[in-house]
Amino acid sequence: MSSSPILLGVNIDHAATLRQARYRSAATTCGGMIEPDPVELALAAERAGADGITVHLREDRRHIQERDVLRLRECIKTRLNLEMACTDAMVAFALKLKPEFACLVPENRTEVTTEGGLDVAGQRSRVRDTVAALTAAGIQTSLFIDPDAASLEAAAEMQSPFVELHTGAYANAYFTPAQAALELERLRSAAALGQRLGLTVNAGHGINYVNIAQIRTIAGLHELNIGHSILSRALFTGIEEAVREMKRRMH
Ligand code: PXP
Repeated sequence: MSSSPILLGVNIDHAATLRQARYRSAATTCGGMIEPDPVELALAAERAGADGITVHLREDRRHIQERDVLRLRECIKTRLNLEMACTDAMVAFALKLKPEFACLVPENRTEVTTEGGLDVAGQRSRVRDTVAALTAAGIQTSLFIDPDAASLEAAAEMQSPFVELHTGAYANAYFTPAQAALELERLRSAAALGQRLGLTVNAGHGINYVNIAQIRTIAGLHELNIGHSILSRALFTGIEEAVREMKRRMH
């Protein structure tokens, strides 16, 4: 079990969701009256103690755009974590961008947000090749997976140093305490198994200012990726206070 404090990656996708709600057809993604600027938000999150910035460049470009990611690459001072589908186009983009981390996620155009973990066992050779290509370029890979033994074992075979456990089932069950307790146990067992398999274990999806009290008790987590809840809080408090408050609750 790691004794270092859990790190916080702030996912800023929904700053771009808000911008796209008004400026989807604008020729640029910032400048003039185009707001909010996710890059400015990322810099403020870093000033407040974010350990990294996470973005998901989705195939349908519904929120973050390529230009946002390129600007983040130039501007941020912490680490860039690119969430990406396992496609040739995204691999080519990541190899040019060279983020510190790339998290491989499943993608489905009809989903509101990432719904399940990556089916590693069902697409072994694609995941293995993607991990190998990114690793050769010096990008550390993570696989976003459901918290079960089969997914962890398949992930360990892929030679990816990191996994990110999908905490969505736990978060969705929060108001059904018996189910939430089961999901929390699944996360604990998965985190422990991941470590035994030599993986560094992150977690994310649906983590908020309330359930963080339980999530932080899962032994050995390295980093949490949190987006929606922090950005929602930021509407009331500003992003810097929202990040500081999450860090206080994490520790
Ligand atoms: N981690 C991954 C892999 C995700 O796809 C997402 C959602 O984009 C998150 C973390 C953040 O989830 P949330 O916005 O619910 O905090």
